[in-house]
Amino acid sequence: MPSYDLCIVIPTLNERENIGILLERLRNTLHDIRYEVIVVDDDSPDGTAAVVKHLSRTQDNLHVLHRIGRRGLSSACIEGMLATAAPYIAVMDADLQHDETVLPEMYRKISSEDLDLVVGSRNIGGGSMGDFSDWRIKLSRLGRRLSGVERHAHLTDPMSGFFIVRRSFFERIAHRLTAIGFKILLDVVLSADGQVRVGEVPYHFRLRQHGQSKLDLIVGLEYLELILDKFIGSYVSVRFVLFCLVGTIGAVIHLLLLGLLLKVERFTFIESQACATGIVMILNYVLNNSFTYRDRRRRGSAFWFGMLSFCIACSLGGIANVLISAEAFRQGMPWPLAGITGLLFSAVWNYGVTAMTTWRQARRSAALRAERRAQASALPDDTPVTATEIRH
Ligand code: GDD
Ligand code: MN
Repeated sequence: MPSYDLCIVIPTLNERENIGILLERLRNTLHDIRYEVIVVDDDSPDGTAAVVKHLSRTQDNLHVLHRIGRRGLSSACIEGMLATAAPYIAVMDADLQHDETVLPEMYRKISSEDLDLVVGSRNIGGGSMGDFSDWRIKLSRLGRRLSGVERHAHLTDPMSGFFIVRRSFFERIAHRLTAIGFKILLDVVLSADGQVRVGEVPYHFRLRQHGQSKLDLIVGLEYLELILDKFIGSYVSVRFVLFCLVGTIGAVIHLLLLGLLLKVERFTFIESQACATGIVMILNYVLNNSFTYRDRRRRGSAFWFGMLSFCIACSLGGIANVLISAEAFRQGMPWPLAGITGLLFSAVWNYGVTAMTTWRQARRSAALRAERRAQASALPDDTPVTATEIRH
């Protein structure tokens, strides 16, 4: 059995066209290093996992971690990184944007110098952002300032997703990782106790050739979530904080709507209140579904059933809120305190109940979807792997 010196973890989501090319480039670049590859695929609808499994039948050093019902670049990387025994672990994107030809230099650096981490950087001499748009460069800088990463390491490119860590270092900090969002390198550095010994190697960031970037507004918000988790995560669940944040936004909109319906439309109070409550409940559901529970987002018919269960759960929470605060008030509690007690109770209730019902892992519909996809794009297990497929 080979014993690998380097493990390369590659997260994939719809990278069917890129992954074969990347694997071949790695083979051509890393002939002097004993390495293995772990592709962590989140059940890509384009069948990336099936392609990699097919290729792995003729490549002993290629493994797939096929995750079902899961999403997330960082958590994918972490699970891949925990699945190897190699002393050094690299992480790189599958879309050919990271330059694999600098991997040997990164490997040489971390294995010969006393370092925890070597990062591929676009911001030192000899590296570049390529054709990265202006706004993404600015966003990247803002993110760096917000993160407070300077306390742990001097990194010119903390947003990079291209690096090698020493496994012993990674395993030391692994329990503290938040696993939220896109920025695994930042998560690693911010989770370290003190200073991290880092080295950097320049590279040119390439343009994506095939497929699409998964970066969007929500990924940006997840970044803030990662930073928030680093500050408060050990005290209270960030998901709960987000749920309350959505609730607060809902309350403000509720008041505005109520005023509008009363004044402009001249509805009665009961009509206006009922109308505003209904609209805000649905709005809260949509916001929680696309942000707080992005990783378990309900789509298709599950979206509508989810909305129903959310509204039922929150209505019960609302009733309990009124009953509890009324009782507290009757017992002599000052009205602001009684009001807040009712609110807090319903926040915890709504969060707990919807976590167990609305956003419980939707196994059945996921299974149906996967079956349909498998029928459309299956690669039969017994087809021989051809030479051209190995290349692509
Ligand atoms: N398993 C898994 N699950 N993989 C994912 C997911 C996910 O939810 N989302 C994205 N990926 C994979 C993509 O398939 C790709 O291989 C890699 O993660 C990067 O995703 P892109 O969608 O190409 O993101 P990007 O180019 O905007 O950002 C990346 O490059 C930046 C520059 O180096 C990220 O890696 C950033 O962290 C990095 O800073
Ligand atoms: Mn990319």
